[in-house]
Amino acid sequence: MGIWILNAQTVATGNELTKKHILLEGNTIEQMIEAAGALPETAGHTVIDAAGKLVTPGLIDMHVHLREPGFEHKETIASGTRSAARGGFTTIACMPNTRPVIDTVETVKYVLDKAETEGIVRVLPYGCITKNELGRELTDFDALKQAGAIGFTDDGVGVQSAQMMKDAMAKAASIGLPIIAHCEDNTLVEGAWASEGEFSRKHGLKAIPNESEAIHVGRDVLLAEATGVHYHVCHVSTEQSVRLIRHAKQFGIKVTAEVCPHHLLLSDEDIPGLDDANWKMNPPLRTPKDVQACIEALLDGTIDILVTDHAPHSEEEKAKGVNLAPFGIVGFETAFPLLYTKFVATGQWTLQFLVDKMTTLPAQVFGLPLGTLEVGKEADITIIDLDTEKAVDPAEFASKGRNTPFIGWNLKGWPTHTIVGGKVVWSEA
Ligand code: DOR
Ligand code: ZN
Ligand code: ZN
Repeated sequence: MGIWILNAQTVATGNELTKKHILLEGNTIEQMIEAAGALPETAGHTVIDAAGKLVTPGLIDMHVHLREPGFEHKETIASGTRSAARGGFTTIACMPNTRPVIDTVETVKYVLDKAETEGIVRVLPYGCITKNELGRELTDFDALKQAGAIGFTDDGVGVQSAQMMKDAMAKAASIGLPIIAHCEDNTLVEGAWASEGEFSRKHGLKAIPNESEAIHVGRDVLLAEATGVHYHVCHVSTEQSVRLIRHAKQFGIKVTAEVCPHHLLLSDEDIPGLDDANWKMNPPLRTPKDVQACIEALLDGTIDILVTDHAPHSEEEKAKGVNLAPFGIVGFETAFPLLYTKFVATGQWTLQFLVDKMTTLPAQVFGLPLGTLEVGKEADITIIDLDTEKAVDPAEFASKGRNTPFIGWNLKGWPTHTIVGGKVVWSEA
């Protein structure tokens, strides 16, 4: 027994939609027929009437924190994958800054096993670049790859030593996996949480300068050139980083990059004050000029893909105040509605552009056999209601994390069904 998705509005080109009936059999897309005239015979199948809704390839998020093992009070693989599914994501790649960190075969296997037994979307683990993410000694890349790691990153901290990064890149290149870099020079950020800009000036705060990120980007594109590795830049947030990535791409260096919704929608000038740590994340919200540069970079392809950097923390942790609270905001359950409402519904981006940046392109960048809606492909599908407007209410999140600065934003574009490998893993109500 398969699933017929009837009257699906699929993305054609630009904002054009094509109406199709889609049959899923087992874990594959079996048929896609133009929806004109009579409905197909659906007897013996489950039917989802998608009339008026958008149907896309399952959304892919290549930068998320699931917190398991070790920080189960923030999130688990069970809760995190449910949150992802509620946000329309069918594949997510999780960061290794757990406790213990994912720097051994055993820990990679632990994540994969948990995902298999308790997760409801596809979970792709990254392994650490350095043991314990301490920057001192490389992990065993061969073994981690063998265990199932899809790339290497010390996300949460930057790799401070250029030599360590160069060695990591050379090794990763030799086994055909990417280096995914959280770009941050520690000597430039000590003790600060807000970006250099209006906000930090107004409040007399020690500030994080843009160079703290861009210095690593500049260093690393040169090392990527020298080693030939696929180098992927995490959560780009500054105009300087954009410039360096654009230049490196023009030069033929194998660099790709991602950006998060919050760095496209919020600047430091939006931070309401000093008592809400839901505006504290790393990298921090930058100036309006940086926001504009990131938007332009996404539009011209300098930045390849959208990711959430879903970073759940408990309410107690976030209530410690801006200085003591950990960095990070949740992202799964608001990402598509935010980007759809603020960029597509306003006419700045086409629907095709947004969907590609969250499906086809992440699959392409990381070489995943996913992200397209075609006969014979994996039946990973997201169905989205583009019309109903609803306010962001963290109480409704499937995530254990409630830490978002988008509370109360009125948005459209809420997912209603998430299908992974031909199974409905989440549906509204
Ligand atoms: O805001 C962030 N949160 N940035 C990071 O780099 C790490 C992440 C986390 O693990 O909470
Ligand atoms: Zn990071
Ligand atoms: Zn992260």
